Amino acid sequence: MKKALVTGGAGFIGSHLCDLLVGKGFEVVCVDNLLTGSKKNLENLIKNPNFKFLKADVTQPIKQLAGRQINFLFHLASPASPVDYQIHSEETALANSLGTLNMLKTALANKAKFLFASTSEIYGDPKEHPQKETYWGNVNSFGPRACYDESKRFGEAITYVYIHKYNLDARIIRIFNTYGPRMQKDDGRVVSNFINQALLEKPLTIYGEGKQTRSFCFVSDLVNGIFRAMFSEGTGGKIFNLGNPEEYKIIDLAKKIKKLTGSKSKVVFKPLPKDDPKQRRPDITKAKNILGWEPKVSVDEGLKKTIEYYKGLR
Ligand SMILES: NC(=O)c1ccc[n+]([C@@H]2O[C@H](COP(=O)([O-])OP(=O)(O)OC[C@H]3O[C@@H](n4cnc5c(N)ncnc54)[C@H](O)[C@@H]3O)[C@@H](O)[C@H]2O)c1
Repeated sequence: MKKALVTGGAGFIGSHLCDLLVGKGFEVVCVDNLLTGSKKNLENLIKNPNFKFLKADVTQPIKQLAGRQINFLFHLASPASPVDYQIHSEETALANSLGTLNMLKTALANKAKFLFASTSEIYGDPKEHPQKETYWGNVNSFGPRACYDESKRFGEAITYVYIHKYNLDARIIRIFNTYGPRMQKDDGRVVSNFINQALLEKPLTIYGEGKQTRSFCFVSDLVNGIFRAMFSEGTGGKIFNLGNPEEYKIIDLAKKIKKLTGSKSKVVFKPLPKDDPKQRRPDITKAKNILGWEPKVSVDEGLKKTIEYYKGLR
């Protein structure tokens, strides 16, 4: 039985990835320090004999991993929502720098294939639209988002070093906004904000005029993309954008969520936060061509599932 290690496996995306891998017959070890994740996300798996949870920090040596013979290492551990990475700025910077280095060393020692979960944030406030993997980005290295953006950039750079210096079979995915069940309720991301405000009949908060655009990928689509990035032929040494190229204005998303929840909430406008990107949309041509992947779940379908999840938490 092939063994996969998922760091950050108790988080939103990581827990769905663990579900997928166990479902496909892998033995899965999840390493998570529960900084922003929760064991509740692993309820389906915790009693499964092919699943093992280890509470550990990727920035520290992890003794419990000794002798486990990992074949595939998915490194997702890092706070991801702007609220979380502002509160945990130092932990975020370290999870993606020191944590990535530690996980690369673990992969090398195990002769495992490695995948690093990077982010569309490495493009910053992009001047090229939509963003292709070849775009270098427009990023502020000395600002409130830098703990996340720049540590992900370092994570990519050190992965490059391990590919070229040690011949490690590694790939990078750049994840664009993803949503779905198990997203934290108060993580400050636009989909969770709007749904929870709408369900509580509170005003929906829009930053700026709401003309900035985002694309939204449903989590089941994303984890399928992650799986293909690890297991498809010829992905070693490559970077893939994974996200939904359908672009929405924030104001239109607010209207859609109001409609789907049947909420009578008003919409209120607040100033744009510093360094907030105006546009974000992945060019996924490379993932389509090499992985044969593209998102399948429509925004309406995904939002309905997410709304049901949040209703269940009440
Ligand atoms: N959700 C998105 O839209 C999105 C977009 C781009 C990139 N990503 C990336 O995907 C990954 C997962 O994001 P998510 O949305 O599931 O976030 P999340 O906060 O739900 O999950 C992250 C998990 O990592 C764990 N963690 C954090 N620091 C750790 C450490 N030092 N050691 C061990 N575990 C640690 C947390 O406890 C949590 O369970 C992150 O690397 C994130 O940067 C997510």
